[in-house]
Amino acid sequence: MNASYLNTQTPASGLEIPFVREMAEITQHMWRNGWDERNGGNVSYILDEQEVAKYLDIKQVIRTIKPAFPVHELAGKYFIVTGSGKYFKNVISDPAANLGVLRVTNNGEQLELLWGLANNAVPTSELASHFMSHIERLKVDPNHRVVIHNHASNTIAMTFIHDLDENKFTKTLWEMCTECIVVFPDGIGIISWMVPGSNEIGRATAAKMKDHHAVIWPHHGIFGTGSTIDEAFGLIETVDKAAQIYMLIAGHEIKQRITDQELVDLAKAFKVTPREGILNV
Ligand code: 13P
Ligand code: ZN
Repeated sequence: MNASYLNTQTPASGLEIPFVREMAEITQHMWRNGWDERNGGNVSYILDEQEVAKYLDIKQVIRTIKPAFPVHELAGKYFIVTGSGKYFKNVISDPAANLGVLRVTNNGEQLELLWGLANNAVPTSELASHFMSHIERLKVDPNHRVVIHNHASNTIAMTFIHDLDENKFTKTLWEMCTECIVVFPDGIGIISWMVPGSNEIGRATAAKMKDHHAVIWPHHGIFGTGSTIDEAFGLIETVDKAAQIYMLIAGHEIKQRITDQELVDLAKAFKVTPREGILNV
């Protein structure tokens, strides 16, 4: 190794920033799960100002971006988001081209880009659904930070063959794997089929987020939320695993199942309260 090699400054990729690395790793996991074909899926993650300031110059605004609607409720908040049209497959090899760190201005009218979204890339087309979901989840959980949308395969499949009534859908998922009721005792919200990328689908999704952590978009995918990336990802993983079991047993003769009383016993043992009106005991 010669001295000139040692003196060469390796340009920072972004992966040295912990929240960039977390986003790069989780998008890679999702792509490997087959949940994010092409540019499918998007993630937004609320960051602490101090955490951002450790790695980026928060006074240096690269450019401003106008959101689809003013987001007064999120004024001053920092986010890392995936870019629109970006492939999750590629985030790990070029985070700055596929992700962006944004701050909502104090009047809620603009987004200030502090890092990433290179070459004039823009935030995900589902930003309305993300922002509106953040607003609703923060009202019920001050620790809320993450919204993940992806095209979880088994969940999409199940929306073709199962009743879309959210209580019936939730109950079936709870019955598929013993620990489902512990992971999502608040059940799953389901909206009707809608055109993605609009404020309307954002409003419908956020309305369900008032009392659910996860919302299914029939024949499209799922939104999962949580206070950490792991929590939001783990929720989607658990829903999709239950949907996978459902798809594996669909059409087969069911010889035994978890009873409603057993689900109640589980909830008691794990100290969670199942959503009312789903179990018959
Ligand atoms: P974006 O590439 O704009 O994030 O859209 C992907 C998607 O899944 C739309 O629902
Ligand atoms: Zn989608």
